[in-house]
This record gives sequence, structure tokens and C-alpha cells, in this order.
Amino acid sequence: MLETLRSAFAGRLLLDDAEKAPYLTDWRSKWTGRALAVVQPDSAADVAAVVRWCIANDAVVVPQGGNTGMSGAATPDDSGRAVVVSLARMNRIRDLDAINNTMTVEAGCVLQSIQEEAERNDRLFPLSLSAEGSCMIGGNLSTNAGGVGVLRFGNARDLCLGLEVVTAEGEIWNGLRGLRKDNSGYDLRDLFIGAEGTLGIITAATLKLFPLPRARLCAWASVANVDDALAILALAQQKIGARLTAFELMSNNCVDLLLEQFPALRWPTSERSAWYVLLEVSDPDGDIEANAALESVLELAFEKSLLSDATIATNLSQTHEFWALRENMGEAQVKAGKNIKHDISVPISKFPSFIAATNALIESQFSDARMIVFGHLGDGNLHYNVSPKTGATGERFTQIEPAINRIVHDAVDACGGSISAEHGLGVLRRNEALRYKSDVEMKLQRAIKHALDPRGIMNPGKGMGAV
Ligand code: FAD
Ligand code: MLT
Ligand code: ZN
Repeated sequence: MLETLRSAFAGRLLLDDAEKAPYLTDWRSKWTGRALAVVQPDSAADVAAVVRWCIANDAVVVPQGGNTGMSGAATPDDSGRAVVVSLARMNRIRDLDAINNTMTVEAGCVLQSIQEEAERNDRLFPLSLSAEGSCMIGGNLSTNAGGVGVLRFGNARDLCLGLEVVTAEGEIWNGLRGLRKDNSGYDLRDLFIGAEGTLGIITAATLKLFPLPRARLCAWASVANVDDALAILALAQQKIGARLTAFELMSNNCVDLLLEQFPALRWPTSERSAWYVLLEVSDPDGDIEANAALESVLELAFEKSLLSDATIATNLSQTHEFWALRENMGEAQVKAGKNIKHDISVPISKFPSFIAATNALIESQFSDARMIVFGHLGDGNLHYNVSPKTGATGERFTQIEPAINRIVHDAVDACGGSISAEHGLGVLRRNEALRYKSDVEMKLQRAIKHALDPRGIMNPGKGMGAV
């Protein structure tokens, strides 16, 4: 059965269990599946040939990029019918048009390599997340990744102008248009973005570039509550506008967890408080201007008693140190063991009451719960996570996970929010999504899946493709 693939993909077809293993488990080892084979195409034509082979042989396709996803969407199921299509070898930069401010890259380009190529050309590609050294642009677009620059530049969808896609029929659609305006039909690009590989395989993308800022500077501030954090956000937006590129929040419990897992890290503010914000300013004019902008916001916030303490990074290396504190939160939780993750969004004005009411409800029902709340406050997206207190077991947390999910997601729904802001539904949230979407919305979602993948061969069991 595999003979045709074997001859077409000699040296790029993994059949041996040990060779396949890294592609069959996600990075947190939360999900594991089986596959007929892992194939490593070099071109869109190769990808199309694999899809046609799957159609002819009753197999299914699981696209995979850097395998850093949070929702189990890149891991095949247990059926053993899957061919995992790893895009890693498709890592060429096809074109950079400095006048049009666009860059066309293959799906397997690692995000950091795209940022670096843009920088070599005095441009910025602003998508930025802690996994940028290993996640790939095809995966970023398929999850519609967010990260830490959304406040200023938007999420992956907002940064993509065109796509090349291999369809579920095994055909190649070339939609690599570098246009900022195009109203010539339904937006196919937007269907494939955020589809978690359930509608087609992205093989290349045309991305937006921006002028490279001359300075990046950040500050940590200690705040008493989330209302004050939001007031500082409003102040910063009013005073420095688009130069404010990130606004992240962390609770004191997060700092405890971070320092427990990474004792070598130093906390930048002298005294501890209930909450902290990390603000970043990117200035086209340079360091002095960035520093003045940050100082003016922090001084005003101090005068209004919105913060008790603040520290500005004095140079780029300190900026990196400050960011490391925020970026190591994901890793700290993995090292700490069992953790119930939520990736929620609500209108930012509702966060103070959402957090107060939901913390109180969880803590009253589960006295061994430790709230680990951090994330992209400026985007209205928090990782509202729950960890066991010292002494509580991982097994107990596995048992109470559905009840905790229900409390959190019902509260999110009551605020008009979303149960997946940036990580996608994958297998983690696909069933819960049904509870919160209307019949009309589900009918439309299913109609799209059926129209683009009538055989159901694209990443079955994941996201909206599964329900
Ligand atoms: P994979 O994990 O390989 O795949 C993810 C999904 O995309 C799967 O459904 C897969 O089938 C599909 N897919 C992959 N490539 C293609 C393709 N070419 N065509 C079609 N479908 C495809 N995410 C955020 O949004 N914001 C964050 O701040 C953030 N921080 C993170 C921090 C850490 C430390 C880690 C480990 C992860 C973080 N993530 C974050 C999650 C993850 O990095 C992103 O979801 C990322 O976009 C996934 O890219 P990937 O290449 O690893 O995709
Ligand atoms: C982050 O913002 O750090 C990520 O989305 C990772 C996480 O949720 O742990
Ligand atoms: Zn995040």
C-alpha cells in the first residue's frame, strides 16, 4: 500500500516507530496517537501528491509544523489511518518586496527565521510568541496565533495577505496576493487561517512587514488590582498611542510559581504586590524617546496612585531579561506538573468582575486550587489557569478538571467571551465549544467543513472539523 509513497518520498518517509515517535506526541506529552507514516514534502506539488494518495488509500491527513500547539491539534488520533505531513523541509523564503512591505515564505519557515530575515531588510515582522524558535508560520496561521504583539499589530490573521494551499481534493490554490485591498469574492484566505488544518494544508504565505522600530523598551509595574492595571492601559493608549506594543498581566501567584521553578530568575521590583504589568513601548525614533514615553506614562500612573512601584529596563539586554520573566510562565507550569489551562477572552472592561467572581467560586468549591492568572491583558486574553496547591495531587486535579472548566467557561460565556482566544479548539476544547455556540453558528461551521473537505480527510477529530 505504501509503495507509491515510498518511491516518491525516498528518504523523506518515516515508517519506523522510533523515527515516527516525535511526531506522534505533542510537546507537553499530553496527547499521543498513531500514524501509517510521517512524510516530509519539499514542495506544494509533493503535498498535493500526498493528499491524493490519502484519498486513494482511505487514509487521512494530519498537517504538522513545529508541534508546539497547546490544544492537541497536530497529533494524530489512535486509528492508525493518518499520514502526518511535516512541513519542516518547506522552509524557503520565496520573496521579500521591501517597497510593498511583504514577504512570501513557505509554511515550514520557523517564525524566528522570518523575524530575522525581515530585520536584515530593515523591516519588522511583528508576530511574537515564546515558542518562536520552533513554531512554524504554517502552524501560526492555522492556529491564528496571538502572542505579545497583538495589541499593536493584530494576530496572525491580521498579518497575512495571501496563502498558497493544497486543498482536500489534492489541488493547489495559489492565493499568494500581496494586496491590502481585495474584494473580489469570498475570503478564502480567512477560511484557512485558524482552521487548525481541518480544511486544507497551507504551503506558503504572503506576510505583511512594518518599519523596524529604532527602540524597544519595557517596564514592570506593581499594581494592587486589575482595575488599576486597566486604568494604566487606558492612560498609556491615550498618551503614547500605537507606540504601546504590549501590555501583559501577571498575578503574584504566578511570580511565586515562576521563582519556585526558576530560582535563578530575579524579580525586578523591590516589593511584591497582588498584580504586575509588563508594558512595552516600540519607538520609531529611538531609545531616548522610548524612555521618555514610558517614564511619562508611569509618572502619571504613580501620581494617580495606580501603581506602587515600577522599573524601566535600562537597555536591550534588561528588556530581554524582563521578557524572560513573562515568557517562562508556560515552561514553569509544565515543570510544576499538573495544571488546568484556560485560554479565554472577554471584553477587557469585564475582567475585574470576572476574575473576582470566578476566583471566589473556584476557591470556595476547591480549597486546594491555586489560581495562576496571567496573559495578554491588553488584548482581553488571559491564561486563567488553575494549579494544585502544595500537597494536592495531580490525579485529583484531573478528576476536578471538567467541573473547573465548566465554572470558568460558563463565566466567560456570561461575559460574551470566548473559550479559545489564541490556542485553538484542537481536541482540548472541541466538545465544550458545542455548548457555547448557537445552532445557527454550528450549521454554518459544518457547511464550511463539508464544502471544503467533503470526505472528512483533513485532520479529523480536531476543532470545528470534529463537531
Ligand atoms: P503545530 O503545533 O505543529 O500545529 C498546530 C495546528 O496547526 C494543528 O492543527 C496542525 O494540524 C495545524 N498546522 C500546522 N501546520 C499547518 C499547515 N502548514 N497547514 C495547515 N495546518 C497546519 N500560542 C499563541 O497563540 N500565543 C502565545 O503566546 C503562545 N505561546 C506559546 C509559548 C510556548 C512556550 C509554547 C510551547 C507554545 C505557545 N503557543 C502560543 C502555542 C503555539 O506555539 C502556537 O499555537 C503556534 O502557532 C503553533 O505553531 P506550530 O508550527 O508549532 O504548529
Ligand atoms: C503564553 O501567553 O505564555 C502562552 O500562550 C503559553 C501559555 O498559555 O502557557
Ligand atoms: Zn498566550
